[in-house]
Amino acid sequence: MDLKPSESLKIDTFSMRIGDIEGVDLDRLHALSLSVGWPHRAEDWQFLRQSGQGFVALDEIGRVLGSAMWFAHGASFATVGMVITSPRLQTLGAGQWLMKRVFDRVAGRDLRLNATRAARRLYLSLDFQPEKTVYQCQGIARLEATGSQADMRDVRTLDPRDIPAVIALDAAGFGVRRAALIERLFEHSVGYGLFKDGRLNAFALCRPFGRGHVVGPVVAESDADAVAVVRRHVADHSGSFLRIDTHMDHGEFATFLSHSGMPIFDTVLTMSMGKRLSDFAVGGATGPMTYALASQTLG
Ligand SMILES: CC(C)(COP(=O)(O)OP(=O)(O)OC[C@H]1O[C@@H](n2cnc3c(N)ncnc32)[C@H](O)[C@@H]1OP(=O)(O)O)[C@@H](O)C(=O)NCCC(=O)NCCS
Repeated sequence: MDLKPSESLKIDTFSMRIGDIEGVDLDRLHALSLSVGWPHRAEDWQFLRQSGQGFVALDEIGRVLGSAMWFAHGASFATVGMVITSPRLQTLGAGQWLMKRVFDRVAGRDLRLNATRAARRLYLSLDFQPEKTVYQCQGIARLEATGSQADMRDVRTLDPRDIPAVIALDAAGFGVRRAALIERLFEHSVGYGLFKDGRLNAFALCRPFGRGHVVGPVVAESDADAVAVVRRHVADHSGSFLRIDTHMDHGEFATFLSHSGMPIFDTVLTMSMGKRLSDFAVGGATGPMTYALASQTLG
């Protein structure tokens, strides 16, 4: 009898069970995101887990083969993210299965997510509507010697006493008040604010993430104000990796990013179910706008 094992073995069926993301070893979540080439560190997963809820797909011996999370803001809105299925599982229905479990838990809420190219078909099949492109800009930051003295004078480091003003301005830009998230981001971030007559007009937070740091959220009433607050972070991280995710594709802010060592690296597509992005625009074209997302996952 020939006992020599064959060089390959085809396994075409195996079963998975759903689990709460809460108790899962961070290293396993990290391994899952690495398997699809995402830059998240274990700490980034930890932050997201503290900020939202989620499911994992587990195989018979407890390996994490998929994930999906949601982040509730207020009673009627949530963002969805960290939707991943392990490469060997993809196109077999696991993404849909995970998303339908999420739907059970977010029923009645308006939903928003940022879809990678790989995920668009999945979300379209679930009735998400395409909205706007997000430009993932990143690279080695460098500060060009421009910017008025006034910009520098009116911008200062934010401290915890500024949190209520940051929450209010974020809500005006984002369209939904997300106090708990902003407070948590604040703990992990350095923030700069632009003040006019003592009132916060623009802010930019920046925290460690992935390969370096990420700037976001950024809320401002004009490109010039957004540049004024982001410029400080570019100066702080000059020579190191910096990332920013923005809907802005032209104008002073977009130009500033590409001149600051952060060209467009990739794009994702904001998609909605229920209320659309424009339904959340509190101040219209002249009010505060979100110039940079907190992250693709958090919106
Ligand atoms: C995006 C992702 C989660 C999809 O998961 P999945 O397990 O492959 O999804 P499913 O098998 O449930 O597929 C759902 C739909 O997309 C289709 N689909 C999935 N991958 C496809 C591919 N490569 N080409 C064509 N269609 C594809 C499926 O046929 C199905 O369509 P249908 O509903 O019309 O039948 C997975 O590819 C992934 O983890 N990618 C890397 C990380 C990522 O980009 N995540 C998305 C974050 S927004």
